[in-house]
Amino acid sequence: MRRTRIAVIAGDGIGLEVMPAGIATVDAVAAVHGIGLDWHELDWGSDHYRAHGSMLPVDGLETLAQHDAIFLGAVGVPDIPDVETLWGLLIPIRRQFEQYINLRPVKTLPGVVSSLRSDLPIDMVIVRENNEGEYSEIGGRIYRGLPEEAAIQENVFTRKGIARAARFAGELARARNGRITSATKSNGIVHTMPFWDEIVRETLDDYPEVELRSELIDALAASLVLHPERYDVIVASNLFGDILSDLAGAVTGSIGSAPSANLNPERRHPSMFEPVHGSAPDIAGQGIANPIGQIWSGAMMLDALGHPRAAAHLIEAFESVLGDGVRTRDLGGTASTDDVARAVVERVGALADRYAR
Ligand code: NAI
Ligand code: MG
Repeated sequence: MRRTRIAVIAGDGIGLEVMPAGIATVDAVAAVHGIGLDWHELDWGSDHYRAHGSMLPVDGLETLAQHDAIFLGAVGVPDIPDVETLWGLLIPIRRQFEQYINLRPVKTLPGVVSSLRSDLPIDMVIVRENNEGEYSEIGGRIYRGLPEEAAIQENVFTRKGIARAARFAGELARARNGRITSATKSNGIVHTMPFWDEIVRETLDDYPEVELRSELIDALAASLVLHPERYDVIVASNLFGDILSDLAGAVTGSIGSAPSANLNPERRHPSMFEPVHGSAPDIAGQGIANPIGQIWSGAMMLDALGHPRAAAHLIEAFESVLGDGVRTRDLGGTASTDDVARAVVERVGALADRYAR
């Protein structure tokens, strides 16, 4: 069988610490399931920027295109503007490879105490439109430094872009509980958001068994804090989806556990898998970063590559390790990044019989 080629960009800060945990645990489960993985590590990130003035080489995207998937840690350092790291690396990858879905599962994890008082289990997936919307280069600054200085940034919403996000959410809801919440703001944002509502509704007409509710983003944010257990699939624009997923991640425990997949659902291009968190300069270098977001992203990668059993096996392994109390400091434990990784690798082995074919 052809081996699967994975491009690895550990990036900066704790990206460099959680990536080895991600690779070791994915490798462990891949070995059990007979999946041949080749990791190709690329030292792109802020050091590359300092040395060459760009986050990735000129032919960087061509290099990535020769892989089946991209496994990313985090990029960003205090001394380089975030706009360089984001627009220099992440956004070109998401756009060039038409990774138009950003999928972010949010789930209560064993032994991890929610920041809320409620102990009802939370299990939702946020489907964030990942290519357009509020994240647009269209606009500019005028009269720099003068009193009349102004900035304009145009939102771009297309029928195609909204419909494919809604369709993805529809498929997901069909396979889950048949409920979708669409995040909107059509009371205040009078052009793009009513358009969003219209296309989402129209697209989901093809899914009669799926129940669609539109909620205004402000009320939805409050409701996610008060009643997170009520939500299942949430579909949202690029900006709304970004904010809601950090919020929802925090509600279940720590942002350090939250995974994400940037998907090209047609699989014409490689998809990219990365934890939701950033490079966390405040704790970088201490070996205490929570690797669960990276490990879970690895499980999503296995699933997207066509190995759902291996993905489920890895998820069960880290859930059971968390349940046993092997947790990093952000989750109230004392384990190091490596302790968690080692424990998950061992647990993958211990559970192997149950998953053997
Ligand atoms: P951040 O996610 O790096 O950190 C926010 C807070 O959460 C910090 O207190 C941090 O210590 C904690 N935290 C995050 N991940 C953790 C983990 N795995 N274990 C334990 N604690 C964790 O967000 P922040 O501080 O806003 O951004 C730092 C840098 O990361 C910036 O340069 C930013 O642009 C970049 N960033 C990069 C992203 C990416 O590569 N996709 C995403 C978000 C931010
Ligand atoms: Mg974010």
